[in-house]
Amino acid sequence: MQVVHTIADLRAALAGRGRPAFVPTMGNLHAGHLALVRQARPLGDVLVASIFVNRLQFLPHEDFDSYPRTLQADCKLLEAEHCDIVFAPRESDLYPQPQTFRVQPDPRLADVLEGHFRPGFFAGVCTVVLKLFGCVFGGHPGTAVFGRKDYQQQMVIRQMVRQFALPIDIATADISRATDGLALSSRNAYLSPEERGEAVQLGRALQALAQAALALRQPLPALESDAARVLGARGWQVDYLTVRQRADLQAPEGKPQAGQLVALGAARLGKTRLIDNLEF
Ligand code: PAJ
Repeated sequence: MQVVHTIADLRAALAGRGRPAFVPTMGNLHAGHLALVRQARPLGDVLVASIFVNRLQFLPHEDFDSYPRTLQADCKLLEAEHCDIVFAPRESDLYPQPQTFRVQPDPRLADVLEGHFRPGFFAGVCTVVLKLFGCVFGGHPGTAVFGRKDYQQQMVIRQMVRQFALPIDIATADISRATDGLALSSRNAYLSPEERGEAVQLGRALQALAQAALALRQPLPALESDAARVLGARGWQVDYLTVRQRADLQAPEGKPQAGQLVALGAARLGKTRLIDNLEF
């Protein structure tokens, strides 16, 4: 496995190796990331993972500085998964000049949910992903793999790829969960033991909301506020708990139809912000 830091070294490492299968990450890898890597393996000729904590997608008060950076441990895990190339640029490699050109994603998709609570988040994600795609694929075909844990992110990336006619297939991986059901996340490391016990309730709230939405004894907004109230009473600060159409992340029109919906949630427990979702 080669670990490269500069775009020039990445391009040299990729020369003549065929179609890349690419997994972009911010590092501090866990079993969820590694499942993406395993899924990517047969989708290309050369398997590339990137590790880069992207300043552009963090708001000033967010955890950019404290985000765990564990490059050596990450590389060991990637080597065990038979990754071919790890692209781990320093900030000065990826952003040698301030990144003044930005991707402006469709506000209907990118300014709701995560984008509403983290303004500019998806512009930051799209900008770095487009740049990473340029570094890895250089306009040639290939496949990139994203997790459905970040449900809105994979939708925004798919739409960006379609609208910019990038010759890149986007594959997605199911959510990897701990045995108690908590979606794996690098941010779970911030949880105290007590919070870690409580954290499973976010997924449970989404399950209960999905069931209630299909039974539809009350209008959806009432069910959503009930769900938020229940988590709030347990000490969570809820950003959103909502049922949306998978197709466009808008509120369902008419009676919610099973098979076309996703319940999405984001909430803070202490200083840790967690997200999760459930397709149903
Ligand atoms: P990061 O949070 O490191 O996640 C990298 C990839 O792993 C994303 O596609 C994410 O959806 C996926 N992932 C994380 N936890 C997962 C889980 N429990 N189950 C399934 N997939 C999971 O997402 C980012 O980094 C960044 O926004 C990035 C795309 C790298 C751009 O900076």
